[in-house]
Amino acid sequence: MHVLMASSTLNLPLLLSLILFCNFHHSSSFSLSVENPNEHIPSLPKGTFTAGFYAVGENAFCFAIWYTRPPHTIVWMANRDHPVNGKRSTLSLLETGNLVLTDANQFQVWSTNIIPTVSKQLRLHLNDTGNLVLLDDSSNLVLWQSFDFPTDTLLPNQPLRGSTNLVSSRSGTNYSSGFYKLFFDFENVLRLMYQGPRVSSVFWPYAWLQSNNFGNGNSNGRSTFNDSRVVVLDDFGAMVSSDNLTFKTTDYGAVLQRRLTLDHDGNVRVYSMKDGEIKWSVSLLFRPQPCFIHGICGPNSYCSNHPRSGRKCSCLPGHKWVDSQDWTKGCIQNFEPWCNNNTEQESRFVHLPEFDFYGYDYGFYQNHTYKECVNQCLRLCECKGFQYSFGEKDGLGSQCYLKTQLLNGHHSQGFSGVFILRLPLSHDYENPQLSGLVCGGNSGGVKVLERPYVEEKENGSVNFMLWFASGLGGIEVLCFFLVWCFLFKNNADKQAYVLAAETGFRKFSYAELKQATKGFSEEIGRGAGGTVYKGVLSDNRVVAIKRLHDVANQGESEFLAEVSIIGRLNHMNLIGMLGFCAEGKYRLLVYEYMENGSLAQNLSSNSNVLDWTTRYNIAVGTARGLAYLHEECLEWILHCDIKPQNILLDSDYQPKVADFGLSKLLNRNNMDNSTFSRIRGTRGYMAPEWVFNLPITSKVDVYSYGIVVLEMITGRSPTAGIQITQLEAESHHHERLVTWVRQKRRKGSEVGSSWVDQIVDPALGSNYNRNEIEILVTVALECVEEEKDVRPSMSHVAERLQSHEHNS
Ligand SMILES: *[C@@H]1O[C@H](CO)[C@@H](O)[C@H](O)[C@H]1NC(C)=O
Ligand SMILES: *[C@@H]1O[C@H](CO)[C@@H](O)[C@H](O)[C@H]1NC(C)=O
Ligand SMILES: *[C@@H]1O[C@H](CO)[C@@H](O)[C@H](O)[C@H]1NC(C)=O
Ligand SMILES: *[C@@H]1O[C@H](CO)[C@@H](O)[C@H](O)[C@H]1NC(C)=O
Ligand SMILES: *[C@@H]1O[C@H](CO)[C@@H](O)[C@H](O)[C@H]1NC(C)=O
Ligand SMILES: *[C@@H]1O[C@H](CO)[C@@H](O)[C@H](O)[C@H]1NC(C)=O
Repeated sequence: MHVLMASSTLNLPLLLSLILFCNFHHSSSFSLSVENPNEHIPSLPKGTFTAGFYAVGENAFCFAIWYTRPPHTIVWMANRDHPVNGKRSTLSLLETGNLVLTDANQFQVWSTNIIPTVSKQLRLHLNDTGNLVLLDDSSNLVLWQSFDFPTDTLLPNQPLRGSTNLVSSRSGTNYSSGFYKLFFDFENVLRLMYQGPRVSSVFWPYAWLQSNNFGNGNSNGRSTFNDSRVVVLDDFGAMVSSDNLTFKTTDYGAVLQRRLTLDHDGNVRVYSMKDGEIKWSVSLLFRPQPCFIHGICGPNSYCSNHPRSGRKCSCLPGHKWVDSQDWTKGCIQNFEPWCNNNTEQESRFVHLPEFDFYGYDYGFYQNHTYKECVNQCLRLCECKGFQYSFGEKDGLGSQCYLKTQLLNGHHSQGFSGVFILRLPLSHDYENPQLSGLVCGGNSGGVKVLERPYVEEKENGSVNFMLWFASGLGGIEVLCFFLVWCFLFKNNADKQAYVLAAETGFRKFSYAELKQATKGFSEEIGRGAGGTVYKGVLSDNRVVAIKRLHDVANQGESEFLAEVSIIGRLNHMNLIGMLGFCAEGKYRLLVYEYMENGSLAQNLSSNSNVLDWTTRYNIAVGTARGLAYLHEECLEWILHCDIKPQNILLDSDYQPKVADFGLSKLLNRNNMDNSTFSRIRGTRGYMAPEWVFNLPITSKVDVYSYGIVVLEMITGRSPTAGIQITQLEAESHHHERLVTWVRQKRRKGSEVGSSWVDQIVDPALGSNYNRNEIEILVTVALECVEEEKDVRPSMSHVAERLQSHEHNS
C-alpha cells in the first residue's frame, strides 16, 4: 500500500510487478498467525505480560499486549483502529527489520516503519516492564519499542513525552480511538482535552484556574517554563510531570502492579493491584467530579450524579437520543424548527433549576430582568435558551447567558443558577422532575464487527495459482485503492457539506477564492501572518479573505484541526469565520466582511468621528469578546496581538475582535526557536512580559486592551512619532501615553480641576460623559500595570464596564 500511495502516476505494469516483487520477498525471520490462538509472546523473564492477537469483535483481532494474569487488562495495541481478519492475518518480522501486521494476507494495516537495517541479529523481545522491544543484538541498539507509542495506558517508568499523547478508547468494550486526549500543549502544560466530532475543548486544568495565579487544587503550581514535556509514573506510585505537577497514589510507597489509564469517560486514573488479587483498585483520580468532564454527555443532554454508576446522562425535555446506546452522541430536538418573525407568541420557556450548560455563550447580559433576557432570546432564532443567575450573593445583579448550543450540561444539587429552555409552544414536553429521568443504555455497547474475507479455492497448479493470485491480488489492491479514493473523496465532500449545513462553516477551493477576490486584487489589510483581501463569493456574500504566510510547513490535518476550533467559536464580539482553504501550499481563511473597517481606520479618520457612546460600547464589546476567548470558550485562546487594527466594526459599530487563534496557528512551526521568535504582537501594545521574557498568560491581552482603551479616550496613538530602534527601548515609549494619563489624573485630583477634559480626544468636542471616562481610565490604567498579577481579568473588566453602562 505504501508503494501504491507514493506513486501518483498510476503505472499499472510497474505497480503489478512491484506487488509481485513484494509477494515473493515475504521472507521473514519471525511470524505470528492469528489462526493459532496459542501463539503468544510471553514477557521475560517473569511472564508478567503477554503479547499476541486479541479478539476485539467477532472475527476481528488486534495485536496487543496484556497482563498475563486475569483480568487480562490490555495495556497497548498496535492497530486499535484497524482490527484484522481472523483468517490469514499475521504479524511478521521482516528481514528489513520492520515488524508488519498484515490483514488477511492482503493488506498491511500496521508497521513499525523503521528505516531498513541490514543486521542479521534482530530480536523481538517483550520485557517484563510491558515494553515490546525490537533489538539489534549485534549493537544492542533498541530499534523500536512500544513504550514510545502509547495508546491509552502508561506503565510504570514509561514516559509520556511532548511528541506523543494518550488517547482514550471509544468505550469500555470498543478499543478504537475515543474522544479524550492527554497531552502537553504548546505552553508545556499537561492537559486533558475533549475532541469530539463537533466541538473540542480543554477541561483540565480549568482555564480560569490557569489564568489566575491564585488558583488552588489541581492547577496549583503548574509551570510553563520547563520545555522537556515529560510525565512518568514511578515504581512507588508517584507521578511527576515536567510542568511541576506531582501526584501520589493513595498506596504510595509500595511496589505494586500499577497502570495509568486515560479511560473512555475522560478521566485519568491510576489503578493498582496487589499480588494475589484479581481486581484493579483506583489509587488516583484526576477529576473527582465526573459531570465536569466535557463531552461526557453529548449536545442537548445533561449529566447528573448517580449513586451507583457515578454519573448518568439524560435528554433535555423535548429532546430524544440520537443513539440510546451511545450517550456521547447526545440528543436532538423532538420537534420541527419553528422560529420565524412572530415567534414571541409561539415560544415557551421551561425552567430547569440547578442546571448549568458550561461555555459556548452566544452573549452575556448583566443586570437584565428575566423578561429582558427572554426578549433577547426571542430576537435570535438560534437561541435555544439561556442560563440565568439571580446574583443575590455576589451583588452583581441578575445575569443571563444566551446559548445557541447546549453543551457540557450538568444538573447538580445546590447549584444556584437556573437554565431556561426555549421550546415551541405547541410542543408537549415532559418535565424531567415529573417524568423521572430518561436514561440511555450503557455508553457504547458491543457491536459485532465483521471482517470481510473471501476464501480462495486452493486446487490446480500451485505455481500457477501463486502467480495468478498475486496478479489478481495486485489488481484487487488497485481496484480497492481506486474505489477507496473515490469513496474517500465523496465522504470528505459529504462531511464538508454536513459541517456547512450545521454551522455555515465550510472548505473553499483555492480557485473559488481566487475568483472571489478577482485574483487577489483588492487588498484591505496586512498584518502579522497574512494579507487580507476583499472578495465576493458566488452567492454574492461580501467577505474578507486572509491569506496566511509562513504556514506552508504545517500539515493539512493539523491546520484543519485548529481552524475548525476557531471556526466554531461563536460570539457576537468575535469575528465570524465562514470557512477556510487548505490546498497545497495555500492556507486561507474566510471571514465575514465588516462594513465599517477597523477601529484604527475610524480613529484616524477626520471626517467621521466616533462619538463617545460608540467608543464606550466598543470598549465594553471588545472586553466581552476577549473574556469569551480567555475564559468561556474553553479552548483558552490568547490573542497576543490586540490593537485597533484588529478590532473591526460592523454596520452598527458593534466591535468584533479579529485575528484570534492565529497566534496558535502560526506558532507551531517556530516553537523551539530562540526566545526572540516567541515575541509576537505589535509595538506600542505589547506587555512588558514579552520584552523581559516572562511567562505569557492571558494578561498580555489585558495589557494591550488597556493601551487600546487609552488610545480611544485620548485619540493619541501609543506609537505615533516615536523612533523605535531596539526592543529594550520598547517598554518605554508606550509608557509615555500611560505615564501622561497617569500624571494628568494625579495632578487633576490635586488641583481639583477636571483632568478628564485635559486628556479626552479633542475631536469629541464636549460631547462625552465624564463619569464614563473616569471609570474607563481607571480600568485601563489597571490593565496596563507592569505587574501582570495586578491587572484584572478580561471578564472582570467586562463586568465593571457593563455595570456602569446601565447606571449612566
Ligand atoms: C527491561 O526490563 C528491565 C527490568 O525488568 C529494565 O532494567 C530494562 O531497562 C528494560 N529494558 C527495556 C528496553 O525496556
Ligand atoms: C524539567 O523537568 C524534568 C523532568 O521532570 C526535570 O528532570 C528537570 O530538572 C526540569 N528542569 C528544570 C529546569 O526544572
Ligand atoms: C514546583 O513545586 C515546588 C513545590 O511543589 C515549588 O517549591 C516550586 O517553586 C515549583 N516550581 C515552579 C517553577 O513552579
Ligand atoms: C422578518 O420580517 C422582516 C420584514 O417585516 C423581513 O425583512 C425579514 O426577512 C423577516 N425575517 C424572517 C426570519 O422571516
Ligand atoms: C468502535 O467504535 C468505532 C468508532 O465509533 C466504530 O467505527 C467501530 O465499529 C466500533 N467497533 C466495535 C467493535 O463496536
Ligand atoms: C442594576 O440595576 C439597578 C436598577 O436599574 C441598579 O439600581 C443597580 O445598581 C444595578 N446593579 C448593577 C450591579 O449594575
